[in-house]
Amino acid sequence: MSSAATEPRRVTVVEVGPRDGLQNETADLSTADRIEFINRLSAAGAPVIEVGAFVSPQWVPRMRDTEAVWAGIAQRDGVRYTALVPNMAGLERAANAGVREIAIFAASSDTFSRKNINQGIEESLAAYKQVCHCAIAAGMRVRGYLSTAFGCPYEGEVSPATVSTLASRLVEMGVFEVAVSDTIGIAHPGQVPHVIEAVLTKIPLEKTALHFHDTRGMALANVLVALSMGISTFDAAAGGLGGCPYAPGASGNLATDDLIYMLDGLGIETGVSLEKLSEASAFIASKVDHPLRSRVAQAAGSRGL
Ligand code: HMG
Ligand code: MG
Repeated sequence: MSSAATEPRRVTVVEVGPRDGLQNETADLSTADRIEFINRLSAAGAPVIEVGAFVSPQWVPRMRDTEAVWAGIAQRDGVRYTALVPNMAGLERAANAGVREIAIFAASSDTFSRKNINQGIEESLAAYKQVCHCAIAAGMRVRGYLSTAFGCPYEGEVSPATVSTLASRLVEMGVFEVAVSDTIGIAHPGQVPHVIEAVLTKIPLEKTALHFHDTRGMALANVLVALSMGISTFDAAAGGLGGCPYAPGASGNLATDDLIYMLDGLGIETGVSLEKLSEASAFIASKVDHPLRSRVAQAAGSRGL
C-alpha cells in the first residue's frame, strides 16, 4: 500500500443503517423501533444519518413509514439527516416531510438500474437531472449514489471509465458528493485503486465517497486502500446490517462498528463513540431476526457494552 502521506486525519462516516441496513429486513420492525435506532445513532455522535427512503412502498415495503420516522426522530444540532429519493414523487414526499438533504441513486450498469428503479441509466439520469434541479432550487443538498461501480450482479464487470464518466455526470447535475458504491460487496484491494483513480480524473477528491458492502469480508481492507488515497467519507451501517432487495447476493454493509474500531486505532477522528454505537447496534440486534454481522459489535455485546 502507498504511504499515508495523504491519509485524512478526520473521516466522515455516513450512517446508512436505518435505510440500507433495514430496507431488506424481514423482521417485524415498528416505526418506533426505527425512530429509537436513529435516536441512539444520533446520541452516538453519527455526523450523517440516512433516515429512510421515499421510494415506492410496493417496491420496498420496509421504508413505507419514512414520513412517520422522520417526524418522530429527535434531530440533533450539527447532524445531517438525509433520505433516498428516486423520482419527483419522492422529492415531493421528502419536501413535505421537511427534509433538507436527499440522495439520488443511479447505477453503473443498465440491468441493475432497470431492476432497481425500472429505468435504464440514461432515462434515470434525465429524471434525476430534474430532481436535482428542483431540489437545489428548493434549497436542498443532493448526494448521488453510483451503484454497481465495482461489478454488477447481472452484467458482471463494470469498467472504471464508465464509473468515472457517470460520476462526473452526477456532479454536473449538482450533487455535492458521489458515493461510489459496491452494491454486492465484490470489490477488493486490487481493484479499488483503479476505480478511485479513474473517478478522480473526473471529479474532485472531496466530492468522492465510498460505499462498501461486506459480502466477501473485504470492506475494511478496501477502506484502508481508499484512505491511503485520501478518501475521507465512508458509508457504513451499524452492526453490519444491510443489503439491497434488487441485488441478489448483496449482504450487509460495512459495519460502522468495525469501521470506527479501525479508525480509532489509526488515530483518525470521526466524532463517533464506539461505546454508544455498540448500544445502538445491540438495540437493533434485539429487533431483527438474525445475529449482527459485525465482529466488533458482537465483541461489545459479549462484554455487556
Ligand atoms: P415504477 O413502478 O416504474 O413507478 O417504479 P411509476 O412511476 O410507474 O409508479 C408506479 C406507482 O408507484 C404509482 O402508484 C406511483 O404513484 C407510485 P399507483 O398509481 O400504482 O398507485 N410511486 C411512488 N409512491 C411513493 N413514493 C414514490 C413513488 N414513485 C412512484 N417515490 C420507482 C419506479 C423508482 C418508484 C421504484 O422502482 C422504486 O421505488 N425503486 C426503489 C428501489 C429501492 O429503493 N432500492 C433500494 C435502494 S438502492 C440501494 O440499496 C443501493 C445503495 O445502497 C447503493 C449501493 O449499495 O449500491 C443506495
Ligand atoms: Mg448499499
